[in-house]
Amino acid sequence: PAHSVITIDGPAASGKSSVARILAQRLGYTYVNTGNMYRAMTWAVLETGVDPADADAVQKAAAGVALESPVSEGQTQVCVNGRLLTVEDLNSDPVNRGVSLVARVPEVRARLVADQRALAAIGPLVMEGRDIGSVVFPESPLKFYIDASEEVRAARRRAQGHADQVAERDRLDSTRKTSPLVIPEGAVVIDNSHLTLEGAVDAVMAHLK
Ligand code: C5P
Repeated sequence: PAHSVITIDGPAASGKSSVARILAQRLGYTYVNTGNMYRAMTWAVLETGVDPADADAVQKAAAGVALESPVSEGQTQVCVNGRLLTVEDLNSDPVNRGVSLVARVPEVRARLVADQRALAAIGPLVMEGRDIGSVVFPESPLKFYIDASEEVRAARRRAQGHADQVAERDRLDSTRKTSPLVIPEGAVVIDNSHLTLEGAVDAVMAHLK
């Protein structure tokens, strides 16, 4: 059975992950951070010694990786070949540098999109990423796109200490051939530049009612 899925897309450093997590908590829905699935795949590919820029090698390495998404405390975690990855594993510098290269490989996307669709069987979800409303659940009536001004996003990037990597990821994510970052058809766009976290969640909730 497919349960309802609230989709949240947007660029890096727009604040969408925090909004998605708090929204899921308020609604009692399971939170799925699909960026962590691409990060886990990247972590696994890097473990095999493959260069993330080599799409053929990435595709072959990724085909041998077992990825699972067990639910714990209201959100999905990521397990690679039976190992539960930590926040540090998922946000390491090599993963930050490689993830958008791995995520542009069509076979990697096809597989993770199928995994993401299958997660709808566990219950109602708030699923967050780059292509959730456009490709993974285009039929969802509950789509949001969270954006913030260039200045605010740049300030958030600097605060995160990965300014160049985030800008480069946005460039790759918006220009790739397979499911680039777009505003999904029918999505409500929320400009998060001048909202608090609670204010942004309230803005989403107001559209759900
Ligand atoms: O959300 P986060 O910034 O952690 O995502 C990391 C990367 O994973 C993105 O920069 C993008 O390359 C990829 N991604 C994607 N599609 C998604 C979610 C993330 O391509 N649905």
